[in-house]
Order: sequence, then C-alpha cells, then structure tokens
Amino acid sequence: MGGLARAQNAWRCSLAEEFYGFLPKATPTCDVVRVGLGEGRAERLIITLSHEGGTLTIDAAVWWPYAAPREVPLVIGLSFLGPAGVLMGEEFPLDPTARVSSDLRLGLNDKRLQPHIRGAHAARWPLALFAERGVALLLSCYGSWVPDDPQRWQDAGLAPFLNLGEGPHQSGAISLWAYALSRLVDVAVTLPEIDAARIAVAGHSRLGKAALWAAAHDARISTAIIHNAGTLGPALASHSTGETLMDLATSFPHWVSPSCRARLNAGITPTVDQHQALASIAPRNVIVGSAALDAWADPVAEYLGLCAAAPAFAGATELPAAEEVFGDAIAPMQSVLVRRGPLAYHLRPGGHDLLPADWRVYLSLLDAF
Ligand code: GCU
Repeated sequence: MGGLARAQNAWRCSLAEEFYGFLPKATPTCDVVRVGLGEGRAERLIITLSHEGGTLTIDAAVWWPYAAPREVPLVIGLSFLGPAGVLMGEEFPLDPTARVSSDLRLGLNDKRLQPHIRGAHAARWPLALFAERGVALLLSCYGSWVPDDPQRWQDAGLAPFLNLGEGPHQSGAISLWAYALSRLVDVAVTLPEIDAARIAVAGHSRLGKAALWAAAHDARISTAIIHNAGTLGPALASHSTGETLMDLATSFPHWVSPSCRARLNAGITPTVDQHQALASIAPRNVIVGSAALDAWADPVAEYLGLCAAAPAFAGATELPAAEEVFGDAIAPMQSVLVRRGPLAYHLRPGGHDLLPADWRVYLSLLDAF
C-alpha cells in the first residue's frame, strides 16, 4: 500500500471514530427487477437486498438518455423525495415507510411521502437536461433507506435489516446513507447499459454529506458531486462561520455516531477535518458546489476544504486563493467555476437549493473529466 492509501485509511478511520461512525461491513446480495415506467425512457428498479436470511426491498428509478443507451455515464442520487418527487404522474409508488425531512416546506404529515409531493422536486433533477447530455440518472428516496428522524431512524430500512447494534462507533444516518449509495452502485454495475468506469454520486445538503462519505470509501465511484453540503460535507469545521458540529449534532443527533455526540459534549477538539474526507477520494474526481447566500453551509469554508484537500490529488495543487474566488462580496452576481485536474468548485448566486443551473455545470464537468 502506498503512502497516500495509508493516509486515506487513517483519515477515514479517524473521521468515522470522531464523527460519522463506521460504515457497516455487511455485503448483501442484490436482486433487481426492472419495470418500464411511462414512455419507456424510465424504469422502476425494485431492489431486494438479502443478508443473513433477511431481506430489504427498496425502490429506485433510472432514466436513460435520448440516444440508444449503451455504456452511458450514470449519476446516482439519493434525494429527499425520491423518484416520486421528480415524476409528475402517479406511476411510481409512494413508500409508506419512508420518513423524510420536515424542512421541505411541503407540509408533510408525520414526515411521510404524500401524493402532493409528486413532481415537487422536478427542478432539482432536470431529466431533460440529463437526457440531452447523454447521462443516465438513478434516484432513490433517502428516507426509505434510513428514516430521517432522531427517534425512528432505526425502525425501518437499513438499521433493522443489518441488525445494527449499539456501540460508540456505530454508523450514524450519514454513514448509512453513504452505505445505501454503495448498494445503488452495486445495482448500477449490473445494468449492461452503464459505463461502470463513469459512475458519479450526487447529493444536495445532508445528502451531499452522504455522497462525500460514500465516495471516500467506494473506489467504483469516479466522481463525487457534493452540493451545498456544508458541515460534515466539504466545509472545514475549523474555519466555518456557519453551522457548527454542535449545532448539527444537537438538531440531528441521529446523523452522527454516539462517540461524536459524547466527544462534542465533553468539549474534545476534533483531530481531523473535512479536507481529509475530500482527500480520501483522491485520485478520483470531486465537484464541490456552493450557493453564495447559503451562509449556513458557508461557501468560503467549503472552498477552503477543497483547497486543503488538493495536495492529495495529482494536477490539482494550485487552486486560487479564496480572495480571488470570492472577491470582496460574498454574494457574487455571476457564477464562478474553478477547475484544476480532478477538482472543481462552483459558486453560484442565490440560496440553498439544487437548480438546473447547477446541473448544467456539473454535467459539462462530467464530460470534461
Ligand atoms: C439543515 C442542517 C444542514 C443540512 C440541511 C439540509 O440545515 O443543519 O446540515 O445540510 O439541513 O440537509 O437541508
């Protein structure tokens, strides 16, 4: 094992011990039933994982590009509302066990997926843009894998399936969502239409944190698209003026490990920071996306995380200084894109959201890497 690989193992280990908990080790087998959806460019994937006599069945959907899909690049996303949040019709089932964020301004009853969410996040996953650019998209609802609720996150999905026990370094929900992304990679590599060398994972906000942590572990992921992910995403905790680790662990205790909560309560200073999570992805590609008004995620801290990770990546050691990227104002009127080798940083005007404008940049970058 080379020096970088040894360092990456050590970083992953410390990040797991101090923040996220360790990813489960279980490697379930996975069966996929493909069912056509609507006009045939989309399919529902009924995924059944089996492990030690137990099974877990979860839905996903895949959309194919306009040109004949053969060896196409793929973006895998865990998303807040899953495929039902993108499709306008009623063909995709609403998972009754999923529990999702209550901060989506959709008035969800008990965090459940309800009929009025259909199509509500279509702009976050612009299918036509993916199809035009020749990129396939695979989406699944994060709340089906791990209910996003501090009291109920172990009641359904991965935790009971994997028989998750207790322990200081037990996976928190971010680790389990990262593990879910790797199970979706397992599914992707069975699809003959996919180019297995060009599989990206993408996530917005809490799911950007999961995309980062998944890519840090899974070398089959060629690109991590880490969008507005802030704390426990690319933002350096040591430089952030936005959300602190304590803020995060207080509002979302289930996202982190018991050891993380105990360390924070005891006032122990972390020995690792988020650039080491980003550097664990080297030599593969990383895209960090910020929104200028997203002070909670802290765009400058997100950029500094990428800069501090850069020495681990060949050809990416000279990212411009933060002052050059951000200028005097933290609310630029125009987008800024910095690209060095396998690393890219995109800052756009506006607030915390995933927009078609973000995807235009990310899909071009996927083509260029
Ligand atoms: C909260 C949380 C963030 C998270 C965000 C989201 O704001 O504090 O850490 O990224 O939710 O997932 O939308």
